Amino acid sequence: MTEYSYSPTGAKFKLPEPGEYLKEFERLKEVVSKQKALGREIVVVMGLGFVGAVMAAVVADAQDEKGNPTKFVIGMQRPSTRSYWKTPLLNLGIPPVSSEDPEVSLMISRCVKEKKTLIATYTYDALKLADVVVVDVQCDYLKESLGNVREGQADMKALEESLEIIGQNIPPETLVLIETTVAPGTTEQVAYPIIKKMFRKRGIESNPLLAHSFERVMPGKNYVASIRDFWRVCSGMNEEATRRVVKFLKEVINTDKYPLTVLDRPIESETAKIVENSFRATILAFLDEWSLFAERNGVDLIKVINAIKVRPTHNNMIFPGPGIGGYCLPKDGGLGLWAYRHIHGFEDEIFKITPMAIDINDTRSLHVAHLTRDALRNMGRPIASAEVLVLGASYREDVGDTRYSGSELIVRRLTEMGAELRVHDPYVPHWWEFEKQDEYPATSRGLKRFFRGQEKLKDLRVEQDLAKALNGTDAVIFAVRHKHYLNLDPDEVVKMAGGGIAVIDCFGLLDDDKIKRYFELGCEVKGLGRGHVKRIKDQVRLKTQSAEPGGLRTED
Ligand SMILES: NC(=O)c1ccc[n+]([C@@H]2O[C@H](COP(=O)([O-])OP(=O)(O)OC[C@H]3O[C@@H](n4cnc5c(N)ncnc54)[C@H](O)[C@@H]3O)[C@@H](O)[C@H]2O)c1
Repeated sequence: MTEYSYSPTGAKFKLPEPGEYLKEFERLKEVVSKQKALGREIVVVMGLGFVGAVMAAVVADAQDEKGNPTKFVIGMQRPSTRSYWKTPLLNLGIPPVSSEDPEVSLMISRCVKEKKTLIATYTYDALKLADVVVVDVQCDYLKESLGNVREGQADMKALEESLEIIGQNIPPETLVLIETTVAPGTTEQVAYPIIKKMFRKRGIESNPLLAHSFERVMPGKNYVASIRDFWRVCSGMNEEATRRVVKFLKEVINTDKYPLTVLDRPIESETAKIVENSFRATILAFLDEWSLFAERNGVDLIKVINAIKVRPTHNNMIFPGPGIGGYCLPKDGGLGLWAYRHIHGFEDEIFKITPMAIDINDTRSLHVAHLTRDALRNMGRPIASAEVLVLGASYREDVGDTRYSGSELIVRRLTEMGAELRVHDPYVPHWWEFEKQDEYPATSRGLKRFFRGQEKLKDLRVEQDLAKALNGTDAVIFAVRHKHYLNLDPDEVVKMAGGGIAVIDCFGLLDDDKIKRYFELGCEVKGLGRGHVKRIKDQVRLKTQSAEPGGLRTED
């Protein structure tokens, strides 16, 4: 039966038939022999996702002092119905990831069409031609309940499968560079034995050359620079692997300006990644309790944080917004906990702060539903029949990445409570976590399973016209600090909505003048960490009452 793979924009691609693989390998061999004759190193990037697709282009764009390309890159993507479309798209010079960084499209198009240093394939045979393999497949952490990271496990299936295939195909002298964020210990205790076993089966006596260097990529405005022009950490399994990985990274990454840190063992590079992200998750989670404190005691946490950040030692304090999304921060600490028990065999519970931070971050956005419910109740409108508009679907400002965004949980919880949800986001044409909620992300990873009454959300569409989105809504939730929302005029918003509404500020978007104006316009305002709104409300009320005939007199 002929199978098809659909890109997120609906383009349809036929999956390769068994008979096409041999022909594809012949094509690759021909191209590679020409590229080798030009003195170029052959690099296979395995996994064309958010990281692999752009890393492949960065490597393909590398050149020597004379401006000659030094690498030829084959992007290798497994031909599953979910992901095969990335291969033909990349071969057309089109990025398989959407990005706000124009350099992504320019670089991919340049490398595919002009420099001809980048192609994509679906056949694992490409590995037979590799001098270097860069592994960018996913390694997930599956949570079994919401807000309890301890109840979960690393999902290494795709990674382990990839390593086995690598071991079955690569020449013995190929460098395998794992960039995937892994449970610390994986390179030495999982990857090495898998590849070594495959080598033995093939009668290869030498040891695999393995290294780890994690990615710090940030898909967004500086997508390419966050790979190419940024500090890297790496480590090889032995001297030769270390020498090779350092040489490779120096040739493709801007290490002159952003020096490389070479650690002794891969477990140290792997741990660096997990600690780095657990640190970030922790400083964000830490403010959750102070956010509640602020709401209940008339404190504006935004002003408090700004006052503290003046001190240089504290200037990395950051307001958490409605939960911490993105692919990495919610899962990476979990990989650390899991490794301690399942790779290294310890039974005791040494981890307290990291799991607590993740659990707090994973559930913080549920409080937004409480604020929305309470604001509407103060206006005499029950949540169960309210229309609620969420402004912003992505996990951070000015990007279109919706993975594990706080907004998703807000939508899911409010839906469970009976509200009708609408959403607006200028960067997100389709919110696949809803539109394809039964397949994406895989059901075992999706957040849908933690809520009831979610079926109708597959019909949720992202509105691009703000006026249309606001028209007739009862509540508006400022969920993301997209630049489009920062200067919205309260008078305009209320006019578009058609009257007073509940306004929920999740990210300190509203200054005091705007909050005051919303109250004057008959709105109710609440916000995460914004306890001072009550004070502003009282002032507005006092003024309104005093202006009424026979009303109170205000003090001068
Ligand atoms: N996305 C980020 O912002 C980011 C940042 C830093 C680090 N990372 C880490 O980088 C790694 C990759 O992340 P991602 O966001 O690119 O994931 P992704 O899910 O977008 O991409 C992984 C790709 O690998 C492919 N794949 C899986 N098995 C394969 C196989 N056997 N052969 C070929 N292809 C295969 C998948 O189909 C998919 O296209 C993860 O460990 C992640 O934690 C991601």
